[in-house]
Amino acid sequence: MSHRLEVVTIDGPSGVGKSTISRKLAARLGFTYLDTGAMYRGVALKCRQSGVDVRDERAVADLMDVLDLRLLSAPSENEDVRVLLDGRDVSAEIRTPEISMLASAVSAQRPVREKLTRMQQKMGAAGRIVAEGRDTGTVVFPGAAWKFYLDAGLAERVRRRIRQLRHQGEAVDEEEIFKQVVKRDRDDMERSLAPLKAAPDAVIIDSTDLGPDDVLARMLEVIHNNPL
Ligand code: DC
Repeated sequence: MSHRLEVVTIDGPSGVGKSTISRKLAARLGFTYLDTGAMYRGVALKCRQSGVDVRDERAVADLMDVLDLRLLSAPSENEDVRVLLDGRDVSAEIRTPEISMLASAVSAQRPVREKLTRMQQKMGAAGRIVAEGRDTGTVVFPGAAWKFYLDAGLAERVRRRIRQLRHQGEAVDEEEIFKQVVKRDRDDMERSLAPLKAAPDAVIIDSTDLGPDDVLARMLEVIHNNPL
């Protein structure tokens, strides 16, 4: 009998296209898409609404005790998951550059990682999910059957991020977005708790010169060649 979980994990740096690919892959497999980054973004927004400094571990821990955060599946394959914070839909509010930076900062705090990791493991306990984030293959689902680490060159990732923000209707300062992508990836890779890195058993895909459908085809090939 296999002890591998019927779970796909996709980790990688910002702007690499993880969300697009994860949504498509989940739809193709008939799995549920678990956007773990959306949860860190929800916590960041909660801190901002409450006037809590994301570096203040004690205050952040108190907030985590009363956190009311829920994910609802996306209305369609082309849309982000819906995020409810204290019962209110904050799906658009969590997608700003400001919240990206706050989410990265608050994600370094132990009380945040412990709580969200537990929630994610519960959501994935029954299997059949595609989990996307920074530590889904290393920490959240080390027993996942199929692990991917998606990478792309910095210039291409910045371009993709700018395109995504424009699509959302955000005013974009390209120079600023470049700096933010560099800082966020460095901070996410250098933090001591659950840093961004490829799991030893992850398949690494460089998508710099690949379109989403090419990446999807490669992942489906890996999955079909390695059945549970
Ligand atoms: O994937 P994203 O851009 O929505 O993630 C926002 C931030 O949340 C990211 O910079 C770091 C943090 N994060 C994390 O630490 N672990 C995860 N599994 C997912 C996101």
